[in-house]
Amino acid sequence: MPRFAKPTIEKAPQEPRRSSRVLKGFRDILPKEQKYWNLIYDTFFKLASEYGFERIETPILEETSLFVRSVGRQTDIVSKEMFSFTDAGGSNISLRPEATASIARSFIDNGMQTLPQPVKLSYWGPMFRRERPQAGRYRQFWQFGLEVLGTDAAVIDAQLIAFISEFCTSIGLEDIVIQVNSNGCKGCREEYIQELVAYYKQQRKNLCDDCKKRLTRNPLRLLDCKQPTCKELIDKAPQILDWLDDDCKNHFMSVLEFLDGLEISYVLNPYLVRGLDYYTQTVFEVFPADKEQQSQSAIAGGGRYSGLVEKLGGQEASASGFSAGIERIVLALKEKGGVVDAKKTPNIFLAQIGEQAKLKSLKLFEKLRKNGFSVAENFSKDGLKSQLEMSNNLNVKYSLIIGQKEVLDGTILVRDMESGVQEVVDYEKVLDDLKKKMEKNGNS
Ligand code: HAM
Repeated sequence: MPRFAKPTIEKAPQEPRRSSRVLKGFRDILPKEQKYWNLIYDTFFKLASEYGFERIETPILEETSLFVRSVGRQTDIVSKEMFSFTDAGGSNISLRPEATASIARSFIDNGMQTLPQPVKLSYWGPMFRRERPQAGRYRQFWQFGLEVLGTDAAVIDAQLIAFISEFCTSIGLEDIVIQVNSNGCKGCREEYIQELVAYYKQQRKNLCDDCKKRLTRNPLRLLDCKQPTCKELIDKAPQILDWLDDDCKNHFMSVLEFLDGLEISYVLNPYLVRGLDYYTQTVFEVFPADKEQQSQSAIAGGGRYSGLVEKLGGQEASASGFSAGIERIVLALKEKGGVVDAKKTPNIFLAQIGEQAKLKSLKLFEKLRKNGFSVAENFSKDGLKSQLEMSNNLNVKYSLIIGQKEVLDGTILVRDMESGVQEVVDYEKVLDDLKKKMEKNGNS
């Protein structure tokens, strides 16, 4: 017997060789899309700050119970679409499907009720819903939004709508439709739902399978069905506006008067309900004008939520807010066209041949960059031809060339790309030389 038996290593089963793919409903946001994202980001946070909002970031993972209690157990989002799991410590957690619940939680957790009210918060980040993917509907999508906590003033609802309208105009999406409605308080809604259920029970046989379930589980969502036969039934359904008590009616009238005063166009949609349970009174959605009738086309949605903070364990604090879907805004911008890249286009290309020239070029790159020049290069290439090709494609004004001769002479070649004229310039003086040239040309 040999002293050491040779260990036998079981072969791991061979995995099929294929490249890894992004998860279904998830997507990469590639460099070519960033001009849209940058425009939306810059415009949103600039406006948010001008309107007095402060930024908040909440975690992407939260206790599952937070969303069950706020968004609602019977909603599609909570009952079907959450990415939920038990972590190694046994906690039930979920990737956030939206941010309002987290912000209400944070308001309580961080004692924001003791701050001067209302508290005005802005946010931006990814949300997760396990929906059936299609154009404009993803499983990871991005939202920005505003929440105003600690006031029930109708003027806030109007100002939030004014904000979205202003945001859309600012990014060049003037053609939008803003739908508004009131879903009343808990009291008026309960009475309305009874009436709605009575109406739909008579129509049960004409309902689609989903609506049959909605009838018992979440009747307000019956008003949201996009199936043609169900849509016909919606047109004759009772309208919640007829069930509003005096307080809710006055609150809603006040919102509409503010909107009229601000000359913001809106469409009163008496059947507008939202897919989350926490709403009370004002609700609204924003659509690109040409897609108002399509499902999955709302670019933003929101409304008032009066009982949520209390439900999550805080003192009573009415609140109102909205979130906008960034991918959907990008889609609308792409369809419209005309968004230009805010990225500075380079006006100088730095070409080099040989190791020593590479080092000199690296140093010069830093010097030019720190002096405000926008410099392109391809330090990984050695051949002059490919570097000059790149410089040509970039349409730069000047190409700077350092080869072995220039290294020895302490010079650099400055080529005017338009005229093709080439000058030999002292390496130490090239910065001043370029500054003068640019001044003469009226750019830098
Ligand atoms: P929401 O209507 O569920 O409301 O979502 C707001 C927006 O997020 C939608 O109008 C849409 O643009 C975008 N969105 C939703 N789901 C997807 C998806 N699967 N793929 C791409 N975009 C999507 C809320 O989330 C509430 N938190 C709004 C709110 C804030 N209410 C009060 N404060």
